[in-house]
Amino acid sequence: MNKKVQKHFPILKKHKKFVYLDSAATSLTPKPVLEKMNEYYTKYGVNINRGLYELSDRATQEYERAREKVASFINADTDEVIFTSGTTCGLNMLASSIGKTLGPGDNVVLTEYEHHANLIPWQEAARQFGFTLKFLPLSTSDWRLETGDLIDENTKVVSFAHISNSLGIVTDAEALIEKAKEVGAITIVDAAQSIVHMPIDVKQLDCDFLVFSGHKLYGPTGIGVLYGKKDLLEKLEPATFGGDMIQNVDYHSASWRGAPHKFEAGTPNIAGAIGLGSAIDFITDIGFDNITEHGKALTHTLIHSLHKINGLSIAGPQTPENRSPVVSFTIDGVHPHDIAEIFSRHSIAIRAGHHCTQPLMKKLGVPGTARISLGMYNTEEDIDKAIHAIKEVISIFS
Ligand code: ALA
Repeated sequence: MNKKVQKHFPILKKHKKFVYLDSAATSLTPKPVLEKMNEYYTKYGVNINRGLYELSDRATQEYERAREKVASFINADTDEVIFTSGTTCGLNMLASSIGKTLGPGDNVVLTEYEHHANLIPWQEAARQFGFTLKFLPLSTSDWRLETGDLIDENTKVVSFAHISNSLGIVTDAEALIEKAKEVGAITIVDAAQSIVHMPIDVKQLDCDFLVFSGHKLYGPTGIGVLYGKKDLLEKLEPATFGGDMIQNVDYHSASWRGAPHKFEAGTPNIAGAIGLGSAIDFITDIGFDNITEHGKALTHTLIHSLHKINGLSIAGPQTPENRSPVVSFTIDGVHPHDIAEIFSRHSIAIRAGHHCTQPLMKKLGVPGTARISLGMYNTEEDIDKAIHAIKEVISIFS
């Protein structure tokens, strides 16, 4: 699959020797997505929901069609899909809107491996509204969460990374959601890393909210999705206000439209939403099952190759099963930035550092890790090149 799909990615054509192993940061953008966004700007690039003219109708239809595609991709209803600027935006909206309904005595439960985007917004809300944050501990022997009795009758929200962006751990979302529901807590799934690696059905998962970004799903940057169950969205207050989200406005008060529109104040990222719709078409054409199977097969090869290298430790699940194609590692005596620098000399792109999970790195006692993350365009050959680069790192620093 990989060699065949590479031709859809102009950046890989332009940089023939480039090996991209940083898809967890952002996936590369395929040509159909670029063409669809170009189509918007060149053929009907006007504002939506406002103009009583043909082009505005066309733009509105394309934007709403993209919402339908997202809804069907995650098995949501169309009016449960809100376009945001990305995962971070969705989590900030939830932390501020839900946060203000909480107070002293309440607690919000996160995991120890949250990305800063699912941590800092809650810290800020906790400071403002007086509730407490608790963290489900991560066992570093089996890389599983210890749920224990941390979730209690005062827990009002359980918000967690579906897949850890820094360690590739796959959270047992069903079990956690079930536990949260036993105490009536709201559940929020940060699907930034999982949306591209596993099928997500929000009805089956039975989460209350789920957020993700378009650019991790072969879509454009600056567009994301906040899914919420209809009844909860109706109750939730918007976090931003302005044009398009209103029903009636007077000088001293205003009322809102229903969901999803009340959460989309101002001109949205129209081209981005339409591009995301096109990314979903692209993925569907390639076959989502093919993409996930390919990811699993390459992860298998990668993990087995890494285990053979002396002085290298994988941070995160040690076997390819039940982990994602996001693989972090450290090499004895070498700073992760030096690893990335040597990879870069071989035109291989990886991410190194704390991966926006500083508290987790402190818990692990490392300054950071080097992280290889895979996409549909990667090949066994890319992994061979990465292993070769790692051997060079070791020979330079030994
Ligand atoms: N959250 C993205 C990453 O893990 C940027 O690299």
